[in-house]
Amino acid sequence: MASTVDMGVTMMRAFQLDTVVAVGGGSVMDTGKAIAACLAGGLPARSYLSGIRTAPTTFASLPVIAVPTLPGSGSEVNGTCVLIDDETGRKLSASSELWSPRFALVEPQFAALAPGPILGGALVDALCHGLEAGLSVNATLATDFAARGAIQELMESGEAAMNGDLEALANCWWASIQSARALSVAGSIVTHPLAHPLSARFGVPHGLSVGLLEPIVLRELGGKMGHPLTKVAGWTGSKATTAAGRVRALASTIEEWAEEIGLPAMTRLEASDDVMDLLVDDVLKSGSRGLANTPGVAIDEPLIRRVYAVAFRR
Ligand SMILES: [Fe+2]
Repeated sequence: MASTVDMGVTMMRAFQLDTVVAVGGGSVMDTGKAIAACLAGGLPARSYLSGIRTAPTTFASLPVIAVPTLPGSGSEVNGTCVLIDDETGRKLSASSELWSPRFALVEPQFAALAPGPILGGALVDALCHGLEAGLSVNATLATDFAARGAIQELMESGEAAMNGDLEALANCWWASIQSARALSVAGSIVTHPLAHPLSARFGVPHGLSVGLLEPIVLRELGGKMGHPLTKVAGWTGSKATTAAGRVRALASTIEEWAEEIGLPAMTRLEASDDVMDLLVDDVLKSGSRGLANTPGVAIDEPLIRRVYAVAFRR
């Protein structure tokens, strides 16, 4: 929450502290990075959030040492902080290249201690970061190289990592860092801005939201994505020769891999018309660059409703 960040800043000032050590998953690291940034910037966290931003983020944060406990978000290698805005209830992001942690201590054994669904959600998030970086209209040769390697490593090592194999966990961690680096540059497609309201409004863990929505987004929009989809489907080994075949193959690959690593199926979500309106409004006002990054498709309200309708089986 943005207010948690402001509380952290107050405490840092009271104790005259100048370095943040963030130990935990993506949310913890994002909060730690935001505290270090707001302490340097001097304004409340809300001032820097996408969609409602009132101040620039082009300044260096105080030092952050990241100690991640899961291979997923890649928050330990980027300057993005995803926070819930207390006033609107929206999950928004504040970001600057100058807010990345100075050091990150990565220890695969931490992930081996995580409950299966938590680790599984983190791995699916990492896989989707690679896919979305590859699909993004801002993908480059460098981001493609990182994203492709990450996807292939996660597909190869994910199941063993879930069974506690430390070498596989280390490989998946490397992959999650590569996919996060690619995503930082290329940006996500529409799936991430669609997933955030599910976490903010329903409490669905981030990895599960993204894992649920990614195959739906691909089946609904993938046929119009053109070359980026052909490219990413090829990374996953698809031999399909038609656009429709590649869409089906890529969506199924994500679902089958998620099942293989034992990710629990999403429980059925319910949404009244009012809640659906709220979710759509959240996406449109998120200020996320993911809305403009989706190749071949102009993201508008009817399209967002279509994807959510499938997710909610309406
Ligand atoms: Fe993510």
